[in-house]
Amino acid sequence: MESGPSCSWLQAFFIAVVLFFNCGCVHGATPAAKVGSFSKVEDAGNFHIYYGQTFKVIKNAADGQSYLLLQNNSRIASRTKYCTSRIKSFVVPLSNYSVDTTYFPVSFLELLGLVESLKGITSDNVASPCVLKLYQGGQIEMFNNSDYQKLAEFTSYFLSDDDQQSACNFATFVPFMENTPLQRAEWIKFMGAFANIEARANQVYASVKESYLCLAKIASTRTTFKPTVAWMKYKNGVWSFTQEKYQLKFVQDAGGEILDANKNTYNISDPDDLEEFHAILCTVEVVIDETLTSDPTNYTLSTFIQNLKVEDRSCFSFISNTSLWRYDKRVYNSVAVDWYNGAVSQPQLALADLVEVLFPTGNYTTTYFRNIAKGELPINIGPEMCDRDTSVAMDPTIVACG
Ligand SMILES: *[C@@H]1O[C@H](CO)[C@@H](O)[C@H](O)[C@H]1NC(C)=O
Ligand SMILES: *[C@@H]1O[C@H](CO)[C@@H](O)[C@H](O)[C@H]1NC(C)=O
Ligand SMILES: *[C@@H]1O[C@H](CO)[C@@H](O)[C@H](O)[C@H]1NC(C)=O
Ligand SMILES: *[C@@H]1O[C@H](CO)[C@@H](O)[C@H](O)[C@H]1NC(C)=O
Ligand SMILES: *[C@@H]1O[C@H](CO)[C@@H](O)[C@H](O)[C@H]1NC(C)=O
Ligand SMILES: *[C@@H]1O[C@H](CO)[C@@H](O)[C@H](O)[C@H]1NC(C)=O
Ligand SMILES: *[C@@H]1O[C@H](CO)[C@@H](O)[C@H](O)[C@H]1NC(C)=O
Repeated sequence: MESGPSCSWLQAFFIAVVLFFNCGCVHGATPAAKVGSFSKVEDAGNFHIYYGQTFKVIKNAADGQSYLLLQNNSRIASRTKYCTSRIKSFVVPLSNYSVDTTYFPVSFLELLGLVESLKGITSDNVASPCVLKLYQGGQIEMFNNSDYQKLAEFTSYFLSDDDQQSACNFATFVPFMENTPLQRAEWIKFMGAFANIEARANQVYASVKESYLCLAKIASTRTTFKPTVAWMKYKNGVWSFTQEKYQLKFVQDAGGEILDANKNTYNISDPDDLEEFHAILCTVEVVIDETLTSDPTNYTLSTFIQNLKVEDRSCFSFISNTSLWRYDKRVYNSVAVDWYNGAVSQPQLALADLVEVLFPTGNYTTTYFRNIAKGELPINIGPEMCDRDTSVAMDPTIVACG
């Protein structure tokens, strides 16, 4: 997927030349509109942004497309429109947009102060009190994501699902493709570019990154023993350990050791598998249970034990030492889990949680994780919990460090 930087630059240059001649401003005329600020992608691997005088180019590895973002007051914008399999154009700043809420982390919009130009969502399963409030107040409309006529009414539609047949105003937003928590968070620069608020995006990412790296640095200098952590989920009779790179990176950055099992899946109906699963779990100090449930409130220690199917649990220190967690502490309507929203744009908060999970002080209230071994229940998010002015950007939460 990764194309070399020189190739990307060449392509951007080619596009730039094409646009230059298209707009007819060949004889040294000064373009009317200039790009104000710039974002440089430092960590994320799946998009790049290049800047011209009156336009920007986002190269998106997720859908293999280049998005030309044309400044609304430039001549290019009025003369040029692209909608091919490789190039799409958008006039920026976008005046309104809609998102496929199933996978789109709206917290990025809140940090950028863009939530009031969000005009359409595809479901109300959103783990954001303020988006729910705007929806209930009628400022955001809900529609079916297969209603293409409706989708066309927005300047842009952001989605993460590359299975959906694309239209000219679709842009693919996929922080989930990245391998590390910070790479995911850097996608704020992608959204910032569509709104001409690169400065804000840069500022948020810089403070998130600084906070994250500070916590990770402290964890790396810890001299205490490193607990072994397993992220695991149960489905249709099979337990599996996560292979998600960003989750493993979280454990590493929090100062833990990743469980190094021989294999990742264990069929509990198979006695040999069950025996091996039992043995490997005896080496684990912290478990994060990711099992999907339609009813998080009812997912308790006894649900976990039922799914485990292991009779003799005497060697499980994560149970005797009450270190059994889930990341569904904040949830709306039993479905929308804030781990997939807020924690994507603010990984420093998730990392601070994990440090507490691994090295409990009892002096830090986690945001995303609840300890089911201690009977902690989820918090149900609702519109009444929106306690800020939605016309103003939300600031990232910087965790005390050092
Ligand atoms: C360009 O966008 C800005 C900011 O939304 C707006 O104030 C301005 O009227 C737009 N200009 C044109 C020519 O559409
Ligand atoms: C959306 O529309 C499709 C096709 O018209 C339909 O099959 C589906 O049930 C609709 N979804 C919802 C949530 O209404
Ligand atoms: C979005 O903005 C466009 C262009 O300004 C406008 O034509 C359209 O009506 C707006 N759509 C919504 C849903 O607000
Ligand atoms: C698990 O093992 C049982 C018994 O061997 C088998 O019937 C079942 O299909 C297996 N399940 C999976 C998901 O492989
Ligand atoms: C139990 O948890 C404490 C921290 O709360 C930790 O220091 C200790 O090593 C853990 N014991 C085991 C066996 O995991
Ligand atoms: C949740 O648990 C309660 C009490 O055990 C039970 O009454 C209720 O039916 C459960 N809900 C679901 C959806 O299973
Ligand atoms: C608890 O946290 C506060 C604020 O971070 C700090 O001032 C205090 O020293 C901590 N107490 C303990 C016992 O760690």
